[in-house]
Amino acid sequence: MRELAKVQGCLDRARGGLGAVLVVSGEAGIGKSRLLREAARHASDSGFAVHVGAAEQMTQTRPFGPWLDALEITPSSRDEDLRSVAVLLRAAILASAGELGSATHVVIEDLVDLVERLAAEVPRMIVIEDLQWADDATVLTARAVARSAAHLRVLLVVSHRTGGLPAIGRRLRRELLDLDVATDLPLAELDHAAAQGLAEELAGDAMWPAVHPQVEAARGNPLLIELLVAAGGRSGEGDLRCALREHVRDRTWALGDDGIRTLQYAALLGQRFSPDLLAEVLGRPPVEVASALQRAIEQQLLISSGHDLAFRHDLIRDTLGEELPQAVRASMHATIGRTLARTGARSPEIARHAALGAPRGDREALELLRRAAVEYRRLAPAVTVDLLTRAESLADERLPDQVELELLWALAATGRTGSCIERAERRLQDQPQPATAAAVHACLGLIRQRTNDLDGARTEFDTAVALAAEAGQIPAAYLADAAST
Ligand SMILES: Nc1ncnc2c1ncn2[C@@H]1O[C@H](COP(=O)(O)OP(=O)(O)OP(=O)(O)O)[C@@H](O)[C@H]1O
Ligand SMILES: [Mg+2]
Repeated sequence: MRELAKVQGCLDRARGGLGAVLVVSGEAGIGKSRLLREAARHASDSGFAVHVGAAEQMTQTRPFGPWLDALEITPSSRDEDLRSVAVLLRAAILASAGELGSATHVVIEDLVDLVERLAAEVPRMIVIEDLQWADDATVLTARAVARSAAHLRVLLVVSHRTGGLPAIGRRLRRELLDLDVATDLPLAELDHAAAQGLAEELAGDAMWPAVHPQVEAARGNPLLIELLVAAGGRSGEGDLRCALREHVRDRTWALGDDGIRTLQYAALLGQRFSPDLLAEVLGRPPVEVASALQRAIEQQLLISSGHDLAFRHDLIRDTLGEELPQAVRASMHATIGRTLARTGARSPEIARHAALGAPRGDREALELLRRAAVEYRRLAPAVTVDLLTRAESLADERLPDQVELELLWALAATGRTGSCIERAERRLQDQPQPATAAAVHACLGLIRQRTNDLDGARTEFDTAVALAAEAGQIPAAYLADAAST
């Protein structure tokens, strides 16, 4: 494995007293921790003492946390040096009400001395995981240890999520990679064959058929593949959703309520969305929304996609949307529909949101659907049929005449003759106004003509003309409409 070969190179260097620094990066769930566990096994097999500490999302304010854990520094340590660092740190924290100030540098110096002393005993591999959550003191210590590593039997490994680093972490990364002793090890997603292989291996023969069609959705991310299989292995869909919800919750935790709401709107907008449109939907300045989106990118929930942003996985987007109660989701769709209408988006999109968002009988949504339907009747009558059918399922009374007629014409134009005749005849039974009846007959005339029933067509057109005259309208308008449809 290419990655382990790099690790081995670093271990060899460190054992020879030249020091080494390894920077492992990659998106959430890609396998950083797994690789480092494997690396730790190699290291201890070849005589290294291994120390591991990880920054945690929940304890980002604990100064030096990962270093204290890695080197097992506590006030009750048996080793006097360890104990004295712990005692010094505790006193400094108590004296400073959280702001360590210059005491930080004293502790860092002590830690560097300690690492030098430990490395003189046996070679050491020190792992500081998840730098994206590290406190500043931890970052500064990593920098100091890396700088003195060149003449020590020490391999310092730091890992972080791609794009997830705050400014100080990014700076550390740059500085570390500038050192001669440093190796950059970015981890990529599994390729198609490897992803399929992993899923198949995890699923086993019995589960493979259920898991197989879903593997692509995990986009080569081993964690998501595991979640898919775990779900497929039990009762299917339900468990997958549970597992994913946990995963996404974990990732959205850092975004705060406001950030989560932003992402939920984004999820309803689509797999790909424009940040400007999202800001418009939220009624907030784009810069404010940008910072929430930036954090979502850092959490590997979103990725850039040209001028737009996109959800890293369809599964993440689905999960965010599903978290919302139906009524809330509906009202968010309605807001999106209204915003799209204001910003001059394409009307079927507007209408789609309006329909998803509206309660039964919502006049505003019906009007949006109708307008979009009319706009598309020549361009794409199938879209008109779709939109008006949605409108019908939303309306709590019969469609207004004008809308009913649009639907009839669109059905005729898309060749759905049977449905068109059935609807037209049902409408005529209700004895509509002469103008409406005229239009229905004209539509029927068109259909008869199309099916080569010329006598039938003539009868319908004659009726249409008579009714239109009765209604004081010019029948040619219908005929022109019929001819052009
Ligand atoms: N190449 C791989 N083959 C098989 N399983 C893998 C592979 N890489 C990772 N996994 C599995 O995927 C899961 C996630 O991996 P891991 O915890 O190492 O990811 P990570 O990059 O450390 O994620 P995070 O940023 O969330 O800490 C683990 O259960 C791990 O065993
Ligand atoms: Mg990890």
